[in-house]
Amino acid sequence: MTLSKKIILITGGAGFIGSHLTRLFVNKYPGYQIVNLDKLTYAGNLENLKDIEGKPNYIFVKGDIEDMNMVKKLFTKYRFTGVLHCAAESHVDRSITDPLAFVKTNVLGTVSMLQVTKDYWKDNYKGKLFYHISTDEVYGSLRETGYFTEETAYDPRSPYSASKASSDHFVRAFYHTYHLPVIISNCSNNYGPFHFPEKLIPLCIHNIINNKPLPIYGKGLNVRDWLFVEDHVRAIDIIFHKGKPGETYNIGGHNEWKNIDIIKELCRQMDIKLGRKKGTSGKLITFVKDRAGHDLRYAIDATKLKKKLGWKPSLQFEEGLAKTIDWYLNNNEWLNDVTSGAYKTYYDKQYGL
Ligand code: NAD
Ligand code: DAU
Repeated sequence: MTLSKKIILITGGAGFIGSHLTRLFVNKYPGYQIVNLDKLTYAGNLENLKDIEGKPNYIFVKGDIEDMNMVKKLFTKYRFTGVLHCAAESHVDRSITDPLAFVKTNVLGTVSMLQVTKDYWKDNYKGKLFYHISTDEVYGSLRETGYFTEETAYDPRSPYSASKASSDHFVRAFYHTYHLPVIISNCSNNYGPFHFPEKLIPLCIHNIINNKPLPIYGKGLNVRDWLFVEDHVRAIDIIFHKGKPGETYNIGGHNEWKNIDIIKELCRQMDIKLGRKKGTSGKLITFVKDRAGHDLRYAIDATKLKKKLGWKPSLQFEEGLAKTIDWYLNNNEWLNDVTSGAYKTYYDKQYGL
């Protein structure tokens, strides 16, 4: 896309990745107008955006991506030239208990967004882009070797990944059928500040602080490929501005960890930071019933993004993890806020620990 004045709609900008993306765009591009549309579900939190809420190029709108009339009105009012579609139900465990919620938001919500965008842009697609933020989970589960490339066949295995795969297919269908300019990126596991403590790393940080058990599913041998969230949104920025419509880009840090090893490393670092005796936090590790249909391994081959667009991760994992832990230790109030109320009910039902 050319660097003319842009009016960008970010959906789900109050969530984990969305808030980092919104902050990056608002701060880096003062000439752009950024509108953040978010329903503020349990995962959306305006506290994540406190530092930019007064910026002149930033507007927040509370609303649901499935509400096509409201989204149409936003298009008419702001005349968006770009959409960064981040809003989603994002937690695999919740998709196992309530798959329909994932179909609603991730499939119906995405198709609603595509439909409104296409209708508004169809007379002039020039300089426009609908960017869909997706996940490596659409590719299914790897055994011990191999990587997901952009050519890997889709093989989603959880209700969450099935809903994201479906949304990806609709995005491509709008490209082929209506020529809507779209880009999809599929990223591996993110970690970093503002990560909701239902996900492995922030959940364990919260539990270590509070001396609570660290629930590890199965034997802890499942492998995830971890990327610092700021590196993910930097990649999105590069792809949004330099990527080719119709293309898909994989994003990943080449940073695979077995769950048990990552939690041991977390315990090691947190013992030091909390001034606890070596080995104290590790004693909290508790093996619990495995996740249903638990994917064994994800690993991204991000060669295309590196070679074609010059992106690479900026942080080594130990450094990123240390930054993340420090953020949670310095933001007790945020952690206490998001773990009060409905979180307790979710936690008891999910773990009963
Ligand atoms: P999140 O759960 O932290 O945030 C989702 C946001 O979407 C929240 O602010 C929520 O309020 C909002 N939202 C949900 N339903 C909505 C609706 N109907 N209308 C408007 N807003 C709605 O999610 P995340 O971890 O930041 O993930 C963001 C995107 O990135 C998702 O599409 C996810 O699939 C993808 N992704 C996540 C990861 C990861 O590791 N977290 C990795 C790769 C891709
Ligand atoms: O790969 C990208 C995906 O990564 C994103 O698309 C998802 O939105 C995001 O939630 C994440 O999915 P995972 O299922 O990999 O993340 P989660 O943090 O839930 O789990 C990471 C690993 O840790 C996984 O193997 C399951 C395990 N786990 C998780 C939790 C919450 C545990 O062992 N115990 C737990 O309590």
